[in-house]
Amino acid sequence: MTAFKDKKVFVKTYGCQMNVYDSDRMADSLATKGYSPTEDMNEADLVILNTCHIREKAAEKVYSELGRIRKVKEARSKAGKGEMKIGVAGCVAQAEGQEIMRRAPVVDLVVGPQAYHKLPDLLDKTGDGGRVIDTDFPLEDKFSALPNAKKEVTRKRGVSAFLTVQEGCDKFCTFCVVPYTRGSEVSRPVSQIVAEAKRLAEAGVREVNLLGQNVNAYHGEGPDGADWGLGQLLFRLAEIDGLDRLRYTTSHPRDMDDALMAAHRDLPSVMPYLHLPVQSGSDKILAAMNRQHTYDDYVRLIERIRTVRPDIALSGDFIVGFPGETDDDFEDTMRIIREVTYGSAFSFKYSPRPGTPAADSDEQVAETIKSERLARLQALLTEQQKAFNASKIGTEMTVLLERKGREPGQLVGKSPWLQAVQVDAPEEMIGEIVTVTIDSMGSFSLFGTMIGHPL
Ligand code: SAH
Ligand code: SF4
Ligand code: F3S
Repeated sequence: MTAFKDKKVFVKTYGCQMNVYDSDRMADSLATKGYSPTEDMNEADLVILNTCHIREKAAEKVYSELGRIRKVKEARSKAGKGEMKIGVAGCVAQAEGQEIMRRAPVVDLVVGPQAYHKLPDLLDKTGDGGRVIDTDFPLEDKFSALPNAKKEVTRKRGVSAFLTVQEGCDKFCTFCVVPYTRGSEVSRPVSQIVAEAKRLAEAGVREVNLLGQNVNAYHGEGPDGADWGLGQLLFRLAEIDGLDRLRYTTSHPRDMDDALMAAHRDLPSVMPYLHLPVQSGSDKILAAMNRQHTYDDYVRLIERIRTVRPDIALSGDFIVGFPGETDDDFEDTMRIIREVTYGSAFSFKYSPRPGTPAADSDEQVAETIKSERLARLQALLTEQQKAFNASKIGTEMTVLLERKGREPGQLVGKSPWLQAVQVDAPEEMIGEIVTVTIDSMGSFSLFGTMIGHPL
């Protein structure tokens, strides 16, 4: 072990929050090989790109980044600083591992999301110039097999942490690569999640964000041997001392069940915020996307959620220019946005992904039209977001203080609705939940004054 002591690993993360979580897990498991994390690629003995395949631009970034890394590797080796190994992980690794090996000879290791627990062993196999690729979907449980889980307690995670409870997707929306890159839905057992949540709480974490590609499709084995859904899991996690805030992401409208509604209604620690992507407001496009619900289904669902939790803020994902989308279809998307009103949202131009059904459609929408529609849609969403933020001015809210702000003496925290809030407070207060009056807003955050800290 001592021989490896001062090795450094640089992990660069793209894509969704699950990749952020996985990158931390990879760093944890590499600690068993004597690697400690670094923020500086130049001093890294190992570089890992944790990649995203969701849209073409995301996937292409990998190859341009590998070009840059190759230069760093060469410079390092010239300077006699030793060899730098390069690994590609994540969804591009899963989707086109062989292609990466072919296009980028500089890569030593390709590892898919289902094989991270084998990372230390795979790394060993790259000795003497060997190149290794592992994109199998193993039967064993990657979560329980991850070494070193206890290490987390000693590593600083901040006061808000991600916790993966479910991975993979069985929905097969016709535009989406996730079911192919992450595999079919797998849920972790409740006891494993509770144990991890307790460790996080003991390490000072106050807010946990449960992650899953389809997090509300969670169906894990409960301590009673029965099948537990996400609602039941939230009730259990709400009992853990110190975890004052619970969130979950990303949800599918089809999987919002009564137990989950009850969790929003009855649990103060479940934050009044819901990311519930609708993608489109056109029933024709929703059907072509295989979303398995209509405009009306979605609007009715939102009404039900707002009945149990009137102050809930909604967030969504939208795709413009899906194959076959006409002006009328797009207007339906604008209409659903106006009808629902969102506190925040993400929106994208449709990007054809190899191997997905929609990519083969001969009704692709022209790029110029996609751009026009995206601009209009984003203008509406920005307007809604501003109105939502403005509605908080003059109100009191609780804020979880998370990190130092830009100015000295300033901290940045998060509102229950996931807004960034800047307040004057000393650094020692990071990790506290305080009550704040909101005075004004900027383009990206709210500004407030602390009036007390009840918790
Ligand atoms: N599981 C989540 C979404 C995961 S992907 C859900 O079902 O909602 C995150 C977002 O990326 C999607 O909601 C969608 O809006 C967008 N997206 C996925 N595939 C895309 C594609 N091919 N082109 C453009 N956007 C896409
Ligand atoms: Fe992709 Fe649809 Fe699954 Fe979400 S539900 S991950 S958009 S296939
Ligand atoms: Fe991207 Fe894979 Fe996440 S494709 S969005 S990194 S699940």
